[in-house]
Amino acid sequence: MLDNLGDLQRTHSCGALRLEHVGRSVTLMGWVARRRDFGPLTFFDLRDRDGITQVVFNEETAREAHARAKEVRGEFVIAATGMVVERAEGQRNPKIATGEVEVQASEILILNDARTLPFQLEVASPSEALASEELRLRYRYLDLRRPQLQANIRLRHHVVQEIRRYMDEQGFTEIETPILIKSTPEGARDYVVPSRLHPGHFYALPQSPQLFKQLCMIAGLDKYFQIARCFRDEDLRADRQPEFTQLDVEMSFATTEQIYTLIEGLFARVFQSSIGVELPAPFPRLSYVEAMRRYGSDKPDLRFGMELQDLSTALEGTTFAPFASALEAGGAIKGLVVTGGAHLSRKQLDELQEHAKRYGAGALAWIKLGDELSSSLLKALGEETIKRLAEQAGAQSGDAVLVVAGKTKTVAAALGALRNEIAKREKLIPENTFAPLWVTEFPMFEFHEDDGRYYAMHHPFTSPLDEDLPLLERAVEGGETELLGKLRAKAYDPVINGVELASGSIRIHRRDVQRLIFKALGMSEEEARSRFGFFLDALEYGTPPHGGIAPGIERLMMVLTGTDNIRDVMAFPKTASAADLMIDAPGEVDAELLKELRIKLVED
Ligand code: AMO
Repeated sequence: MLDNLGDLQRTHSCGALRLEHVGRSVTLMGWVARRRDFGPLTFFDLRDRDGITQVVFNEETAREAHARAKEVRGEFVIAATGMVVERAEGQRNPKIATGEVEVQASEILILNDARTLPFQLEVASPSEALASEELRLRYRYLDLRRPQLQANIRLRHHVVQEIRRYMDEQGFTEIETPILIKSTPEGARDYVVPSRLHPGHFYALPQSPQLFKQLCMIAGLDKYFQIARCFRDEDLRADRQPEFTQLDVEMSFATTEQIYTLIEGLFARVFQSSIGVELPAPFPRLSYVEAMRRYGSDKPDLRFGMELQDLSTALEGTTFAPFASALEAGGAIKGLVVTGGAHLSRKQLDELQEHAKRYGAGALAWIKLGDELSSSLLKALGEETIKRLAEQAGAQSGDAVLVVAGKTKTVAAALGALRNEIAKREKLIPENTFAPLWVTEFPMFEFHEDDGRYYAMHHPFTSPLDEDLPLLERAVEGGETELLGKLRAKAYDPVINGVELASGSIRIHRRDVQRLIFKALGMSEEEARSRFGFFLDALEYGTPPHGGIAPGIERLMMVLTGTDNIRDVMAFPKTASAADLMIDAPGEVDAELLKELRIKLVED
């Protein structure tokens, strides 16, 4: 039989009681995390979102309550009323905040029972794995009872409130933009919603509120922000979800410097108030070109060194085919020095090679400066050249040098990925360190070899650097298309510990420039009109210069909590195949509904 609460009220949370409460009568309510029986004494660990309190039922002093407590199993919901007492010296638990006291219960209400959980919430030791993520996602409401996830969700709340306060203080207005819109180009596929009232027509869910926030600037709203839900149908990774949240920001008459200051201030405030960390400010800046050259990444982790070394000079005139052809084709030969890496085994080197191959490298050559010189290149290059290579890389005795040759982009990608992997394996990353930077001057366009076209690297509303505008004209109007690859953008990403936390740019506010960009992207006048006519029109009615940025809330939370799984910082995340296992979405819909929407499914 279950009890009703009646007039009984909770007096404290399960994390609240301390020595100062000793002698008080209290009522706690929560879940029974654990029950232990010792003859006439029964102990509960009673849990709620605030913590755990030990509640004791004593057969001698509270016979009825003790008998009732025996009916209780794990995860039952109960109310316990009793006296706070100090625990005896040897029985204190320093691991929990309430560990100096316990509640000697005189009464218990069983508010609800619970079936045996499909998995254990707590594991006995950190080395014991949690239940499979699939199972935990199916029962997300149970997994969310784990204190770690509870803490993450509450920290997220705190961060979002702090963001709102800060943006308000800085004079920004929170404005909601619609969810049912037309396609916005952020590079992913759109999620679409069929319209019943306009059969055959579809809304798209926003990949971001990009155009709306720019329209807010044209509308004279001046400083906009929104905690905005974004939807992207793209390949998912550990740091991506199909729906996620951005702090979306736009500012009229903004310079890049103003945006840097705004965001550095915001991050400083959030890091300080949520995890007590002072971020170094101002953030150092690296241009995209420099970041790629030195770290092989546009989101370098600056908590450790290990910069990429250009080895081409030491190999000039080489006849070794893989190196010679890389140089001839205008590519690169670069290396990484692994300090103390002479200990790397063949197996470890093979694993690193596999890792490099996943990022496009053809092979990974190595040199080990152990007691004797050894190298995968010994036969091909000879000892002399190898020594020269190691020297050019800056390697010392005891180190290893890992070498990749090929197209400049591939070499950077492979060594950039290896750099992170090696740092992890060799434990080169200091704990509790935060290394922010701005990556600036991204290229405007990226050439995709598969379809031989240029794509906007950020999005097509990003302004080129003023000094590069003539290149844009020559490329589009003068037919020198290859110049598009040289164009730099007023685009910037703040990066912390190798995580891209946000992207932003100063936007195009001139209609003529916007048209050139659409043309550069291969869009005909008609196509540009049909997709963005409303926006091109708006640009004609007095558009202020403006710019903005959008930090991803989940990414920020990942850095703050130190997790590499985005699902740890969301209440109800989806799987890597964009499914919600708990509610079983996506699901089929009624034939009737499809008919109303005039949608027919085709078999493939
Ligand atoms: P961008 O597409 O770079 O820029 O996104 C900005 C930031 O949003 C986060 N983010 C994601 N987080 C989780 N899952 C995803 N699938 C995902 N995709 C992006 C990242 C990223 O840095 N409209 C522009 C911003 C602007 O120009 O103002 C935009 O959306 O943290």
